[in-house]
Amino acid sequence: MKRIQTCGAMTLGVSIVLIVLYATLNLENSNSHNPVGVDTSKHPSIHVRDRDLKNQSKRENVAAPLSFVHNVSVSADFRESIPQNGAYWNRLLYSALSNLDQGGNPFSQPSECKETNKELLQTNIHDFNSYPLLFQSFLQWMNCRSPAVLINQPDKCMFSEGGSKNPAFFLFAIKSTPGNFEQRQAVRETWGQERVLNGLGVRVLFLLGRSSPDDPDLSSLLSYEAKHFGDILQWDFLESFLNLTLKMNAFLHWAVKHCPHASFVFSGDDDVFVNTPVLVKYLQSLEADKISKLYVGHAISQSSPLRDPKSKYYIPLSFYDGAYPSYAGGGGFLFSGALLKSLRSVFHIIPFFPIDDAYTGMCFKALGVSLEGHTGFQTFDIRAEDRENLCAYKELILVHQRSPQEIKKLWNGSHNPLLTC
Ligand SMILES: *[C@@H]1O[C@H](CO)[C@@H](O)[C@H](O)[C@H]1NC(C)=O
Ligand SMILES: *[C@@H]1O[C@H](CO)[C@@H](O)[C@H](O)[C@H]1NC(C)=O
Repeated sequence: MKRIQTCGAMTLGVSIVLIVLYATLNLENSNSHNPVGVDTSKHPSIHVRDRDLKNQSKRENVAAPLSFVHNVSVSADFRESIPQNGAYWNRLLYSALSNLDQGGNPFSQPSECKETNKELLQTNIHDFNSYPLLFQSFLQWMNCRSPAVLINQPDKCMFSEGGSKNPAFFLFAIKSTPGNFEQRQAVRETWGQERVLNGLGVRVLFLLGRSSPDDPDLSSLLSYEAKHFGDILQWDFLESFLNLTLKMNAFLHWAVKHCPHASFVFSGDDDVFVNTPVLVKYLQSLEADKISKLYVGHAISQSSPLRDPKSKYYIPLSFYDGAYPSYAGGGGFLFSGALLKSLRSVFHIIPFFPIDDAYTGMCFKALGVSLEGHTGFQTFDIRAEDRENLCAYKELILVHQRSPQEIKKLWNGSHNPLLTC
């Protein structure tokens, strides 16, 4: 691959010969032994399971043809921030990038929710067996790029009220889990009310995966809730912290298809308090050049993967070796709706990483969109002595983490006309 890069400067004839040669080599790789397992679709030992076949019939075609991938390039800035070394993800990334630079698709077909062969992973990662089980499971399913939609809201972003002209609108895309009924209800009753605020429409969606078969079956409650409120989106993959990147990806596919005109998108958790009026005021104060290139939140800079195997955020060194580019804390951040399409494309290029907010930060960096830090986003919470003080929330946009009861109390309090700060 190095060879191809240096050849770029050579004469056209030589380049063509080498590119043809490269294509042949690449083909052999995918048919015999794929050193990093990028394209598992052609690997003979990957079998399609019966369940996958059944799902295909009811599958909404979330994976559009991949022609869109060609519309984006990956910034030099991003490439420089990720070291090229022997760790598995680093190798996956550079293999995908070199494929992209040759004009190919890093993922030659829209892969369904397909399992990666465990032996292949053991071959590629010398200490794979010592990874925590959930991490192993993430790796086996990290190519789950178009899970089936179980509950859909195709009309969420259609506005019928207010005559023919649709208002500009803002979409809250809130990560939730099937059992979090109370959290969702608190959000609906408070900061996530659907309405038009200062001329800006507010739309709300809760993004869900599936609960484990070992858990109580909540599916009929969920479908009731979805019919009643019309704000549940659910996909067919297992709900798990390490699967949040899959969730973001599934959401981006959905949003490009069903909600491409959103002015702004909020991605965040269901246990945060958002001061929606302050948020809307902030959005309306933005300068024109920011409006289409916004990525704002609590900036986490110069952080590195945690190497303690007991941590929720544990990243083994043999999986990823490097620091994290600056990113916005996943409790809640905002970005321009105009970026939805290119973000979806770049999610197709950069291999999934199990920490969703760090991954999203990488993708924005790859797009050349710079992160804007804003002190109104407090994803690590505010000082303990200020937590009961309503005035401390007056200028804040977001605070993590609050119970449904606290959310109600804060919302009520911040709307009290007698509040003087
Ligand atoms: C992610 O989802 C897949 C597909 O449902 C599942 O098999 C896998 O176990 C999940 N990953 C984790 C880490 O739970
Ligand atoms: C909501 O605010 C009102 C005053 O505006 C207060 O009387 C009431 O107790 C509050 N309710 C809650 C749940 O905090």
